[in-house]
Amino acid sequence: MTRRQSIVAAVALTVLLAACEGQDGETVAQQKLLPPAGFVADANQGERLFRAHCARCHGQAGMGSDQGPPLVHSVYRPAHHADLAFYWAVKDGVRQHHWHFGDMPAIEGLAPEDVAHIIAYVRGEQRNNGIR
Ligand code: HEC
Repeated sequence: MTRRQSIVAAVALTVLLAACEGQDGETVAQQKLLPPAGFVADANQGERLFRAHCARCHGQAGMGSDQGPPLVHSVYRPAHHADLAFYWAVKDGVRQHHWHFGDMPAIEGLAPEDVAHIIAYVRGEQRNNGIR
């Protein structure tokens, strides 16, 4: 890369980073996917949030409905769908690929901490049903 090319690249990167800041000055770091390191999730809060935001498709206690698959299912055991899959699913939605319920939309209004609570709840339900 010539010196001129690297200056152009640096300027382009600066413009790109500036564009990534939301209209209200939200930085990339604030739009983060994961809760801060050391955050302790609470399955009881997760149950409440799950009922409000997920149960209409994933069913009572994550057992599935006619709108979406059970999350208490070996397909979603930690080794097959790591916690990151949950953060991504909520933030960006999910293209239909394992089932025939259609796509999952992105779920608005949940902070990474909320998703962490939901994951704690779902993992607990999985363990209670022998899914590890
Ligand atoms: C409008 C219905 C709907 C809602 C609401 C919904 N989901 Fe989903 N979700 C789906 C469907 C349908 C799939 C299956 C897509 C497939 O694999 O075919 C899915 C898949 C998933 C997956 C698997 C992702 C992957 O990588 O395969 C996770 C994790 C998930 N949902 C979590 C959640 C959580 C957590 C909530 C609540 C915050 C939620 N969903 C709310 C419909 C929904």
